[in-house]
Amino acid sequence: MSQLLLRGRVLTFTDEPKSIDDHAAYSYFEDGAVLVKDGKIAGVGDYAELARGAGPQVEIVDHRPHLILPGFIDTHLHFPQTQAIASYGAQLLEWLNTYVFVEEQKFSSTAHADFIAGRFMDELLRNGTTSAMAYCSVHRESVDAYFSAAEKRNMLMIGGKVMMDRNAPEGLRDTPQSGYDDTKDLIAKWHGRGRAHYAISPRFAITSTPEQMEISRTLVREHPDCYVQTHLSENRDEVTYATSLYPSAKDYTDIYANYDLLGSKMLLGHCVFLSDREISALAETRSVAVFCPTSNLFLGSGLFDRDRFKKLGARFSVATDVGGGTSFSMLETMAEAYKVLHVQGQRLSPFASYYMMTLGNARALGLEDRIGSLHVGADADITILDSRAKPAMELRMQTATTLAEELFILQTMGDDRSVSEVYVAGKPMKSGLNTAVAPNAATRSVADLQPA
Ligand code: GUN
Ligand code: ZN
Repeated sequence: MSQLLLRGRVLTFTDEPKSIDDHAAYSYFEDGAVLVKDGKIAGVGDYAELARGAGPQVEIVDHRPHLILPGFIDTHLHFPQTQAIASYGAQLLEWLNTYVFVEEQKFSSTAHADFIAGRFMDELLRNGTTSAMAYCSVHRESVDAYFSAAEKRNMLMIGGKVMMDRNAPEGLRDTPQSGYDDTKDLIAKWHGRGRAHYAISPRFAITSTPEQMEISRTLVREHPDCYVQTHLSENRDEVTYATSLYPSAKDYTDIYANYDLLGSKMLLGHCVFLSDREISALAETRSVAVFCPTSNLFLGSGLFDRDRFKKLGARFSVATDVGGGTSFSMLETMAEAYKVLHVQGQRLSPFASYYMMTLGNARALGLEDRIGSLHVGADADITILDSRAKPAMELRMQTATTLAEELFILQTMGDDRSVSEVYVAGKPMKSGLNTAVAPNAATRSVADLQPA
């Protein structure tokens, strides 16, 4: 039996912090340790105690003075948009047509899908994210590429083939029947295999006909243990267009409600322009709104009003939304979340932030028994954070006096350089991460770029 004892400053949440000094919501061990046996957590607590109880064959890895946290969880992003991040100058609908729908067509090539899937998983890990829920492209091969890359790394990943049968280029459109058939086959192949979970993925109301929505309803009814993911109310023009396509719906949320797609396994990206009625409909069905701060700023969409979701009792999670989002880093994402809320007069405490990236997102996915916190029996997905990873951080840390301050500095100034190691099911991953150049980029150089 393989045994690892990770020594460092251990931080893990047991509940949502209600304020900056709600110390009951987390456990913190200054000279702490996590004992890992066969990919699972077998002990969490003070180092001296755990070291005494561990067998003679235990391997000790000393991560001091770094922090040991659960691996981060990202609840919404797009794996085929890995090379579309930072596409200039357009809001949502123009951005989709100009950049995203061009990029996603490349995923008809299995070689391309395999290459990007590997880089995508490694980029998540480089940033300390050990689990995520992502959209694949319309091509079923992209789902095979995605789950194969996750399986190779033993990562708990959620994903699915995007379904879209209108308002997209021909090469990216399925049909209600082929979307149904491909989704069924992919669920049979991947859902529950190892650590894989399937997400039924009608992209959004604009790219699905009523017939495809009907098919989505059937899929969800036939596979109640699968996730469902879509987009909702991200951008004002999108809301106008989507509701015009479904004139009998009360509002945008009602489109999905009318096809019985809302529920505790449904994650809806963005939710920026919802009425109180719509938020209440999400609350009643226990659906999850996904806050995507870097994306909402980058695409000029709008500001997520977290306090209205809280007031109306609706669930929410947080996500990068790569490639509308601009970073794979959940730390950078929370730095922007802080600003999005701050500009609306809402507070995001450092403890609340780290809760959201870990246990909060695990609860949104209903996976809190497996991931998102360091507890005995959980999967050993663990992130090691270095608060002094950059010279400017090291300098700033010289004046920090509390854990809350350190966490806030790490979030505000940190990125992938702050992740000194990441463990997936107890296996260290950071040193093996891939930075291979894309096959299609091999012949390009700066000299090939056109002047603006
Ligand atoms: N709405 C529908 N598709 C997408 C997408 O790929 N990204 C974002 N940000 N919004 C969407
Ligand atoms: Zn999205």
